[in-house]
Amino acid sequence: MAGIPSEFIEQLLDRIDIVDVISPRITLKKAGKDYQALCPFHTENTPSFTVSQGKQFYHCFGCGKSGSAIGFLMEFEGMEFVDSVETLAQSAGMEVPNQGNHSNNTKNLYQIIENANRYFVNHFGINEDVQNYIKNRGISSETCLTFQVGYAPDSWDGLIKKLKHSNQVELQKAGLLAQNDAGRVYDKFRGRIMFPIQDRRGRVIAFGGRALQKDQKPKYLNSPETPLFHKGKELYGLNIARKHSNSKSIIVVEGYMDVIALHEVGFKNAVATLGTATSQYHIVTLLRSYEEIVFCFDGDQAGIDAAWKALVISLPVYRDDKSIRFLFLPEQHDPDTYVKKYGAQAFQNQLDNAAMLSSVLLNKLQNGLDINTIDGRAKFINKSKSYLTELPKGQFRKLLTEEISQIAKSSINFSNTKKHNKIQSIDQWTPVRKAIAILLNQPNLVINLPPEINFNQIQQNGTDILQKIVELCRKNPNINTASLLENFRNEETYAHLSALTSTPLNLNNEQMLLELKDIKKHFEKSLRRIKIDRLRQKQANDGLTNEEKQKLVELLTNQIL
Ligand code: UTP
Ligand code: MN
Repeated sequence: MAGIPSEFIEQLLDRIDIVDVISPRITLKKAGKDYQALCPFHTENTPSFTVSQGKQFYHCFGCGKSGSAIGFLMEFEGMEFVDSVETLAQSAGMEVPNQGNHSNNTKNLYQIIENANRYFVNHFGINEDVQNYIKNRGISSETCLTFQVGYAPDSWDGLIKKLKHSNQVELQKAGLLAQNDAGRVYDKFRGRIMFPIQDRRGRVIAFGGRALQKDQKPKYLNSPETPLFHKGKELYGLNIARKHSNSKSIIVVEGYMDVIALHEVGFKNAVATLGTATSQYHIVTLLRSYEEIVFCFDGDQAGIDAAWKALVISLPVYRDDKSIRFLFLPEQHDPDTYVKKYGAQAFQNQLDNAAMLSSVLLNKLQNGLDINTIDGRAKFINKSKSYLTELPKGQFRKLLTEEISQIAKSSINFSNTKKHNKIQSIDQWTPVRKAIAILLNQPNLVINLPPEINFNQIQQNGTDILQKIVELCRKNPNINTASLLENFRNEETYAHLSALTSTPLNLNNEQMLLELKDIKKHFEKSLRRIKIDRLRQKQANDGLTNEEKQKLVELLTNQIL
């Protein structure tokens, strides 16, 4: 598991209490054995987020998110697995074992990227062309310093030579190298203005590099996804915006240069996505720390499309207590060129007049339809439906529905909310699934399963997972649900197991024991089947010894009983 021994994860999750981890971050209320809260990962008005102290596990019945304390920090704080483990270990006064593991590796990667950044920044200052370019674009040296703008010299191996003490594998992992078809490795960024991308904690994790020459392609070259950098989660400039501005509003733009140009003229609360569309993750995290998001994309068709995409993706995570607005710049302008041409005050006016999400949505829904005709209104209602049902229940949804009713001159009622992943009732589960669910819920019940059965012998869906769980439970009868699950974090089945853990079994102890008895019978029967088939096969091929014949009769008799 990413280099940190699973024993350590077990000890850690045993030592800390998930309630202590979650309660400073969101308001928990005691409800029976468990704690409840409004889910921090989706919008809701009645709490469906549950924290179980017994299982050391959280789960939201609304959006389906679930996990251990480690998972919570990853999801809530946007931390990497190792960061999350380190944070928890620190609070528990434990030291994460450091045996050439992943944690060391990421520390190394941060170091390498920081060194590369220094190299770029040093070259920035000494290159005249670069200085001219930056001056022409109207960026002050103070702003360059704030954003640590750099320059990657036009050389195939400048960085490789500079960082020769770091091996190439590590440089490659950090996303700083490229490779040609012949296998030759060289500097990825050459002859480019470098914009370091920082994470929330201000560490440089990746770069965007802008071509200095007109004919150089692509215009922007970005770091690939690396263990430190996930495009869909990061926003360029967020760390700087937090440090330099206390505005309750955050402006989301498209480009690096837009963020910098806005900062230059005093809008220090701007961030950019990284050559990708705005993700739901972006919106949820921004709405956590800001009262309002203003999307400001370029005034071309691509910008308008990007705005609509951002709107659609924000519907499921819309919150009545926050607002989302859209600023449409005149065609041919991006925020950078707009403030250059019209100045900061004009941009401020644009900001003040940015359209509310509701009006952008209503406009788009009526676009191209003749609302004066029944036909047009029918189409309008039909189109509206799919967007309205994306919205969480709340005032906004209610008012928007009323507004649409008025426009359509028809009272409409889309009461169904999108259904989240549902799991069938336990009666329909396979015995393997039942066994897994029961053990995840109550690991100590493992003693009720016969130790002589190796579930790997029975090839049914999930028996390999069941066997692994059984072994984990046997090894540590005090293991808790969260720890058990952490053993599967890097496996495909993780999401499925979390969902299973979150499903209320509604069985008391006695009922669980009865279920286990049934399950045990089922497996014994399956094993007998396998043995019978094997003997029958042999009987057909080579015949059976007397002993084997007797065994077969015995098996067949048991099978009938
Ligand atoms: P733009 O082409 O609008 O660039 O791309 P820009 O920000 O206005 O830059 P200047 O003013 O020409 O210097 C917007 C964003 O799209 C991504 C980058 O993140 C860029 O900031 N992009 C663009 C790429 O990733 N690759 C490209 O080739 C172009
Ligand atoms: Mn631009």
